[in-house]
Amino acid sequence: MPLKLNGLILRSGVMQSPMAACTDLAFRLIAREKGMEFAFLEMVSARALAMRNHWTLEMMKTRESDRPLGAQLVGCDAEFMGIAAAMIEDMGYDLVDLNLGCPVPKITGGEDGAGSALLRRPEDASKIFEAVVKAVKRIPVTVKMRLGYEDESGDEAIEIARRAQDAGVCAVAVHGRTRAQKYRGSANYEAIGRVKRALSIPVIGNGDIRTSADALRLREISGCDAVMVARGALGNPWLYRNIENALKGSPEPEYIPSFEEIRATLLQHLEYELEFEGERNGNLQMRRVGCWYVEGIPGAVEFRRTFTRLPTLAVMRDYVANFEPKRLADPVPA
Ligand SMILES: Cc1cc2nc3c(=O)[nH]c(=O)nc-3n(C[C@H](O)[C@H](O)[C@H](O)COP(=O)(O)O)c2cc1C
Repeated sequence: MPLKLNGLILRSGVMQSPMAACTDLAFRLIAREKGMEFAFLEMVSARALAMRNHWTLEMMKTRESDRPLGAQLVGCDAEFMGIAAAMIEDMGYDLVDLNLGCPVPKITGGEDGAGSALLRRPEDASKIFEAVVKAVKRIPVTVKMRLGYEDESGDEAIEIARRAQDAGVCAVAVHGRTRAQKYRGSANYEAIGRVKRALSIPVIGNGDIRTSADALRLREISGCDAVMVARGALGNPWLYRNIENALKGSPEPEYIPSFEEIRATLLQHLEYELEFEGERNGNLQMRRVGCWYVEGIPGAVEFRRTFTRLPTLAVMRDYVANFEPKRLADPVPA
């Protein structure tokens, strides 16, 4: 299911969605080692990037092996969005995406809110699309949006996506929820299909992909050209290859890692967090990361209770190295 975005050709049609505070460099390197092809940085503010804010630049750190890689901008000022998009191209990223999905009040608030608030201001959205397409010379420009602000039909997404297409955006990703739903309820694949049928540029489907069967269902129902994985890949970097194989119709069975492989991957993730974030931030990040990896493992409750309180990465490393999943279900009390 290859996806062509101007000069950028993705073999698999499986992308990792941007996720603030999750898809950091450590996450991406692990995911790539297990088969992820394309990822995004965490979303960055166009204004902060244009001002060369130190913390924004720090969030954008990457490595040679961390390619192909997209950057995502959030903002509502067309001029800043254009400046920041040109910077992203100059910095060597492979794609720039515009965020029209973020539901967080800090982002959407005020009369000129950004993220999903732009779904209700199509004129402003068009100005941003035009400014960014004009500012970027080589790399593809994409837009990631929700189905609507409150309306679940997909009509708002269709309006915005058509404007993106007219402005020269080369693909849109549609998260099958509204802003009002935040992350609750289930993603509406039929409505993603409505957006797909209204456009001639590729549509990337997103929402609730936790298994390769979910990705197949999303493609079948919506007819989308590619899929974007988000929460499903947290602690499950094996998901990308399983989806890629399923979308290709490969007879290869679903790959299920052993606990020893999960342990080794979690330990490697910890080493990357230490290397890129340092002891303090690495320890805080690992408290979340560790919980992702033990999802569904017998003894996960005990693991989480202990692991999230461990004070240093060294103690965390020892705890993971010695953790034994329960062999049997918890004994029923007499
Ligand atoms: C913790 C978290 C952070 C997110 N950050 C972003 C972001 O920075 N940009 C964005 O476009 N979407 C962001 N999202 C939305 C996801 O990319 C994705 O669209 C959404 O979670 C739906 O997919 P899922 O149901 O498979 O998780 C975030 C989601 C979560 C849970």
